[in-house]
Amino acid sequence: MPILQVDNLSKQFDGLVAVNDLSFSIESGEIRGLIGPNGCGKTTTMNMLAGLYRPTHGDVRYHGKSILKLPTHTRTAQGIMRTFQIPKLFSEMTVGENMMVPALATSTVKTPEFIEKLEHKSSEKLTFCKLDHVSHLLAKQLSGGQRMLLQIARGLMVEGLELFLMDEPFAGINQVTKETIMDAILEMNKDHGITFLIVSHEMPSVRRLCQTVSVMHEGSMISEGSIEEIANNPLVIEAYLGGQNAAS
Ligand SMILES: Nc1ncnc2c1ncn2[C@@H]1O[C@H](COP(=O)(O)OP(=O)(O)OP(=O)(O)O)[C@@H](O)[C@H]1O
Ligand SMILES: [Mg+2]
Repeated sequence: MPILQVDNLSKQFDGLVAVNDLSFSIESGEIRGLIGPNGCGKTTTMNMLAGLYRPTHGDVRYHGKSILKLPTHTRTAQGIMRTFQIPKLFSEMTVGENMMVPALATSTVKTPEFIEKLEHKSSEKLTFCKLDHVSHLLAKQLSGGQRMLLQIARGLMVEGLELFLMDEPFAGINQVTKETIMDAILEMNKDHGITFLIVSHEMPSVRRLCQTVSVMHEGSMISEGSIEEIANNPLVIEAYLGGQNAAS
């Protein structure tokens, strides 16, 4: 059974159909890429998967069960985490404090032992994401790349994380930090079996991470396959400006 199944999903904003009858599924353990020209509906799709937007039509199933009626925090408690295209952090809190928020919000026990365990886990995840040396800084003092890393590290705080949704994790980020993020994704996938859905315009990163890539155009899925397969699909070439080869 796929970990995530999207059935005929649509989202309409007034007159605009942002996502149009979108269906796809992801197997557990995959690192799936989701690409498509600007404005084709990728972020809107992520927002529906994470529970931020209510679809106009369709269903989203996680481990076979509809999660459509579940609010974001319940989806997180069930192991779905996401990062935002524009990092959403508590800018006046420290990096360390930002790390504690989702775990505290999704748990009912808040004993001193539990907090201590969380702090230990937080410092482990910050080290993993190469942020341990900035844990005392305010989130607003971080660079763009460090903010993205903090979103990822914060996601790793979620107990039982299974599905990590990432919206443009490489956009505007220097090569060294991109490598750190890619290494982190590969390691989380290999060592912890975490499934990823990664929206990205960065073809070299998508090529390195994703065996299967899904391509959206004007709210619909137009192709799915390996980078080579999608790059040779005339519909994909047509969807990108000027018919340039999407993978070049
Ligand atoms: N909250 C909203 N209200 C109205 N229209 C919206 C809203 N969010 C997105 N849209 C519109 O829906 C369409 C799809 O937008 P979306 O942000 O999902 O695209 P995208 O594929 O993520 O683009 P990009 O690659 O630029 O990030 C666009 O036309 C956008 O203007
Ligand atoms: Mg977007």
